[in-house]
Amino acid sequence: MILELTEEQKAVRDAARDFAQNVLKPGVIDRDNEQRFPADEIRQLGELGFMGMMVDPKYGGSGMDTVSYVLAMEELSKIDASASVCVSVNNSLVCWGLEEYGTEEQKEKFLAPLARGEKIGAFCLSEPEAGSDATSQRTSAVDMGDHYLLNGTKNWITNGGSASTYLVMAQTDAEKGHKGINCLIVERGMEGFMVGAKEDKMGIRGSDTHTLMFQDVKVPKANRLGEDGFGFKFAMKTLSGGRIGIASQALGIASGALEFALAYSKERKAFGKEIHKHQAISFKLADMATEIEAARMLCLKAAWLKDQGQDYDLASSMAKLYASEVAGRVTDQAVQIHGGYGYVKEYHVERLMRDSKITQIYEGTSEVQRIVISRAILQGQ
Ligand code: CAA
Repeated sequence: MILELTEEQKAVRDAARDFAQNVLKPGVIDRDNEQRFPADEIRQLGELGFMGMMVDPKYGGSGMDTVSYVLAMEELSKIDASASVCVSVNNSLVCWGLEEYGTEEQKEKFLAPLARGEKIGAFCLSEPEAGSDATSQRTSAVDMGDHYLLNGTKNWITNGGSASTYLVMAQTDAEKGHKGINCLIVERGMEGFMVGAKEDKMGIRGSDTHTLMFQDVKVPKANRLGEDGFGFKFAMKTLSGGRIGIASQALGIASGALEFALAYSKERKAFGKEIHKHQAISFKLADMATEIEAARMLCLKAAWLKDQGQDYDLASSMAKLYASEVAGRVTDQAVQIHGGYGYVKEYHVERLMRDSKITQIYEGTSEVQRIVISRAILQGQ
């Protein structure tokens, strides 16, 4: 793996950093308080090319590599994990899936507006009784000849209320188990498609998480992604890439918390000196920085493998497992370093601590990542 970033990768990282510090930061506390989706900020990110970062420019994307995506996700997530999860889902779960498995017609019709940032996408796998156990899909898609009749409910859907294009996993043939699942492209406005209330969440409160309901929705056959019965494998493969995005989000939450803690430790005085001059604080900072660097290496390795066309399933699960747990520990320590100030909203670290928890849950819990990793290492023996 090459550890030196190219000039282009550095420029992407710096552009994302500028955007996070100058555009996302001023309103992030209010958006969190008000649970307000960063609609205008996402529109601007689209104009800058961050919504279809890895998509071929011929479909409106920026044609960047996955390493650049990791760098951008880290910078955006240092400040606003609600905005960055929208970026991540659109890039990794929706654009990637459409570009990799879509027909030419599907790419023109659905991928291009998403990659240009004109529309937002959502990925719909989880159900009331199918979270980690994703093969137990109850949403059904009955084959009616020229269309599928879609019925069911999807839970915890990121971008649920703001998306226009939804990739929906549904069971077409229950007897075939996971081999009878299809991925259907559902458009907002299709008759029988309803968006439920926004979830009132502990963290990433600006992100737009909804339950979706489908009642006799007619989805044209032309909207099936991939071969008949490919939906579950599609979801698993897509999530492998998605986990690189969430790992980078966790990395950014942790490194953002460290930046706030470093700055505070140089301003705040106690017992006659800046608090970073006490080993109780400087040793915490050293541990935080070391864990973050290890998480960054895992994220970059997974991205690099993907860019090289090599298998990245194991690497992405390792990156997500480790980075999300680092985010939990580092944000906890950042609040501790801030003392009472860390417990109030103005200092940002309490939000990062709340935001960190979801990275251990969505796109596969830490337990799911351990399943993937343990199976891979045991098979490898
Ligand atoms: N690539 C391609 N195929 C894969 C694959 C991958 N990475 N992983 C599994 N598969 C295939 C398997 O080969 C198998 O196919 P065959 O039967 O033909 O061999 C099939 O999929 C079933 O796989 P498993 O037997 O491993 O399935 P399992 O029931 O044991 O489940 C699991 C494994 C890892 C727990 C999986 O169910 C899983 O990842 N669950 C978590 C789902 C998840 O991440 N949900 C998050 C929702 S999306 C979200 O959060 C988005 C958001 O809004 C932020």
